[in-house]
Amino acid sequence: MNKLFYFLLFIVSLLFSSCQKNSTPLEQPKASLKDKLLEAIQNPPNYANPNYPTHFVTALNTDNNPTDNPVTDKGAYLGRVLFYDTQLSINNTISCASCHKQEDGFTDQNVFSIGFDGGLTGMHSMRLANGRFYAPAFQFWDRRAANQEEQSVMPIQDAIEMGFDSTAGGLDALLLRLENLDYYPPLFHEVYGTSEISVIRMEKAIAQFLRSIVSFESRFDEGYEFTFNPNLPGSGLDTDFPNFNESENRGKHLYVTPVHLGGAGCNACHQAPAFTLDGIVKSNGLDANETRIFKSPSLSNVAVAGGYMHDGRLASLEEVIEHYNSGIKMGPALDPLLIAPNNTPLKLNLTDRDKQDLIAFLMTLTDNTCLSDPKYSDPFL
Ligand code: HEC
Ligand code: HEC
Repeated sequence: MNKLFYFLLFIVSLLFSSCQKNSTPLEQPKASLKDKLLEAIQNPPNYANPNYPTHFVTALNTDNNPTDNPVTDKGAYLGRVLFYDTQLSINNTISCASCHKQEDGFTDQNVFSIGFDGGLTGMHSMRLANGRFYAPAFQFWDRRAANQEEQSVMPIQDAIEMGFDSTAGGLDALLLRLENLDYYPPLFHEVYGTSEISVIRMEKAIAQFLRSIVSFESRFDEGYEFTFNPNLPGSGLDTDFPNFNESENRGKHLYVTPVHLGGAGCNACHQAPAFTLDGIVKSNGLDANETRIFKSPSLSNVAVAGGYMHDGRLASLEEVIEHYNSGIKMGPALDPLLIAPNNTPLKLNLTDRDKQDLIAFLMTLTDNTCLSDPKYSDPFL
């Protein structure tokens, strides 16, 4: 019985393997990675001219896309290759995208992210969409990088994140590595006209890709496009959206209405429609006596991955709302909007329903197009 079984198994596996052989295509060898990336950069997606909805006009006033390095289709494509390339970490294990995952809204699910050697970052990873709609252009929570160009090579040189720090040869060691990969010289040639690979060229390309990541197709955007009057910039925000349920519309009303008019005052800082921070905003009172001024990434896709604030200390949107409701602490960096007239930290006195409605509204900022658009995805796949 056993012997018969194994004999049959043997026959079946013979048949199976010969089937597989027959199905193996005999055509030309698989295109090389170099050919694949070169072909793609020669027919790049549209990064330079996003098809913004009309209600985005106020956000466009805060665009930090610089005249000396505007987003171009080929430049952003090269930036995307660099962003997804694990060769940018010293031991080839992680890329920018390891901590900035498209499906997680370009952050990750961890409170602190894991670097090339298992070490943890000191702060929480930031979402990246709509980063261009922040006029001061500063990057990182504490705003220590002047713009995306300056930011772009800092994680590479970080001893915990990607490991090309000075003891490992720094960016010179990385340039040498990229020069020896067959796909980079021709990609740089496509963008810059010569195949030279330099730090400035890398910075510019990565910055272009970062600025190409935009979000304007959430349910919020769909609704706003109905109520916005192009002749009156900023109009229609507090009109009920036809595609929202009652809770979402109530949450939206609380979000956009200033505190002295009975709202929660969020929009004074995290401004619709790009939901990036107003450039003049100070801190939001997480710690008593805080002297540092922090920025926030755009709230687009905020509900996709938890771990909120610079150190990811708040696990959920419930905790975020409760912070603004009752948790603000006094300090030199606290924004005046969060200080009550009697000079104590602002308290919102929200009802349970208010809190639920605000969360329902924040969930309408999820933009599935941005989270799945192939033009932001891994070009190596
Ligand atoms: C190991 C995880 C990790 C890697 C790898 C990583 N980042 Fe980050 N990124 C973070 C963290 C954490 C922060 C917040 C750090 C801070 O503020 O100090 C951040 C912040 C940023 C910001 C600031 C966003 C803003 O609105 O201010 C940008 C842009 C960014 N990263 C792009 C990149 C690029 C480009 C790369 C690759 C060259 C990269 N990151 C690699 C974890 C990572
Ligand atoms: C005075 C300006 C100001 C107001 C008003 C304000 N915020 Fe913030 N918000 C900030 C700042 C600054 C940060 C970044 C704080 C940090 O991490 O140190 C932030 C962070 C956040 C974050 C975390 C973002 C992330 O990526 O982790 C969320 C969510 C948020 N705010 C939602 C709201 C909501 C909802 C309201 C209204 C109830 C609101 N904010 C009101 C300034 C403000």
